Formats: sequence, C-alpha cells, structure tokens
Amino acid sequence: MLVLGIETSCDETACAVVQDTGDPARRIVSHSLFSQLREHAPYGGVVPEIASRAHIEHLDGLVAESLHAAGIGLADLDAIAATAGPGLIGGVMVGLMTAKTLAWAANKPLIAVNHLEGHALSVRLSDDVPFPYLLLLVSGGHCQFLSVEGVGQYRRLGTTIDDAAGEAFDKTAKLLGLGYPGGPAIERLARQGDATRFELPRPLWRKPGCDFSFSGLKTAVRLALESCGPQPSEQDKADLAASFQATVMAVILDRARHAIAMFDESHAARGKHFVVAGGVAANAKLREGLVALAEEYGMSFTAPPLKLCTDNGAMIAWAGLERFRLNMIDTLEAPARARWPLDAQAAAKPFAGAKA
Ligand code: KG4
Ligand code: ZN
Repeated sequence: MLVLGIETSCDETACAVVQDTGDPARRIVSHSLFSQLREHAPYGGVVPEIASRAHIEHLDGLVAESLHAAGIGLADLDAIAATAGPGLIGGVMVGLMTAKTLAWAANKPLIAVNHLEGHALSVRLSDDVPFPYLLLLVSGGHCQFLSVEGVGQYRRLGTTIDDAAGEAFDKTAKLLGLGYPGGPAIERLARQGDATRFELPRPLWRKPGCDFSFSGLKTAVRLALESCGPQPSEQDKADLAASFQATVMAVILDRARHAIAMFDESHAARGKHFVVAGGVAANAKLREGLVALAEEYGMSFTAPPLKLCTDNGAMIAWAGLERFRLNMIDTLEAPARARWPLDAQAAAKPFAGAKA
C-alpha cells in the first residue's frame, strides 16, 4: 500500500510517499521538503500571504520529486492524503486543492488529514507505539496534551489558553534580538546563561488540570530585559534566555504530572507510553526532563526523530495510510479548515483565544 501525503498548513511545503510495511525504517519511501524560513525571517515570524504563495510555487515540483524518488507514478498510489486543517487557511487550500486535483485526475481516494492527527500518529510511523498513549504536542502553533486512543479517537486533556510554547520561544527570541525561529537560538544562548538569575512567573503552576498559559511570560521577559538598562549586555541576554527556558520547562513538567494523572484515570499510566512531538520537542532540556518524568511514573518515553517532530509530509501520508486502512475516506467536498480541533468534545467548549 502506497500513500502520497501533502503538508502546507504553515511555513513548510512538504510531500512524501509512505508504504505499509512491518519495518518502520522502510516506511518512508521518499520525502521532499521546502522550508520557507528564509522567506519569513526578515519579518520575525510567518507571514500568511507569503506562505501561501511559496506553497503554490513549490508544491507541484515537490510532488513530482517525491514520486520520482519513489520510482512510481500517480497510478501506483493507493490513496492521496493532504492536510485539510488546522492552519493558515491559504496554505491549507493550496495543499488540499492540489491533492483533490490529483485524486480526481488519477481516480484515487482522497484522505483529508487533520494536521494534529499527523503529529499524533507520527510516533507509530517511526516506532510502532501501540494505543493508547499520552501525547504532549508542543510546536509553534499547538501546545496540548492528548490521550491518543485509536485512529480518529483523541481526547484532549489540556491545551494552551493563549500562546503555544514555541510561540513563547519565538516572541522571547524577538525581544532578545535573536533570529526566527527562536527556539534553537534561545537554547543555544541559554547554555551560556545563569538560569537562576531572573525569577519569572510560572503561569498555572500547580493549578488543577493540564492547560497552559504563556502570554504573561512574554511580558515578564520584556520587563526583566528593561530592568537591565538601555543596553543589556550579552551576559544579561544569556541569563534571561536561560531563565526563560528553565521556567517554560518547569511549567511543562508541572503540567505533564497533571496530564499523567488524568490519563491514569482511564488507562493506568504505568507501563504505557509518553510521547512528545512538535518542534519544541527538539529542545534537549525538555527531552531530559520528560525522560526522567516518564521513568518516575513507570512509563516508557518516545519522541519521533527530529525530522518527524517538525512539520513534514511523511506524518500526513502516514495518518492518511492509517485512515485508509480503516476505510476512512473523504469526498472531494472535504473543506479546508483554519480551525479543527481533534477532539469533538473539546471543540464544543473552546477556550477564548485557544488555538485549534
Ligand atoms: O512543529 P514546528 O516545526 O512547526 C509548527 O507546527 O509550529 O515547530 C516550530 C516551533 C517554533 O516555534 C520553534 O521556535 C520551536 O518549534 N523550536 C524549539 C526548538 N526548535 C524549534 N523550541 C525550543 N527549543 C528548540 N530547540
Ligand atoms: Zn505542526
């Protein structure tokens, strides 16, 4: 079984062919990715209109490249999957329309994939992790705990009520005059800093549930920076980066304890898997903390390889394949959606300002 996947929901134009085989190392047949980082860097963040145009310019070529590298043609595919949301709507439309056109032209089934489901199932592409598992999804656009119970079966345990964790890294990096994306730059600078120098607020610390809030932290970072005078030194900035990173990690670990307790209520967490995905999962301090936490609770810990943590086509192709195996096929009417929570119950009572 061969499935083509297309991802265009943010600033990566990506495409991949995956196959159904018992050996996880052989599942990705080919993958192509164009990162728009350079296009957005001068603006310090992703500009939606620039992103949509870049997707249009690059997607056709990437699809051709993926098929060529896989040594197949459209006719050899069993299904065509694309991200149908949530994300920047212009980009989502570009990818989904491309997939619909290919599906119609080649007479193949279309699978409209929720981008969050792509992240949620990526660990089954790389590591065969069985259901159910607890997932921490931390990226530039999302920050949530999900109980992943089966394909199409997700329970959102908590989410951010304002900014995502990656967004907090990006905004803090901007305040410190570092480039975009901010996460890697802050992590690098933090290595030279004293994490105990600045005491920053820990939003929702020890509060019930496992929701997040990061927007207040950004203001605290700005005030701390101002307290260093008109020309903060490199050491001031490094200390602030280290203090910020340590605070975010402490908050995530505190929230994770609550998420494990919530997951435990329905699935006895001990012996189960704790999974982290999303761009922020690249952070070494976060991984260290989560490994220790999972061990403390008798859970195994898995993070997909980095290239599957950040946005990519293979995770969309794989989610498409998992859905296709269960006959979960969509029509050509499938809509592109800017917002699309994975958990229908959570969708019924969204938080004000919550992402997806
Ligand atoms: O998953 P991703 O590539 O795209 C989204 O779906 O958002 O995540 C990108 C986010 C950015 O906010 C970036 O600053 C953050 O992941 N990030 C990191 C690190 N590497 C990337 N955050 C903290 N530490 C890192 N090493
Ligand atoms: Zn993503």
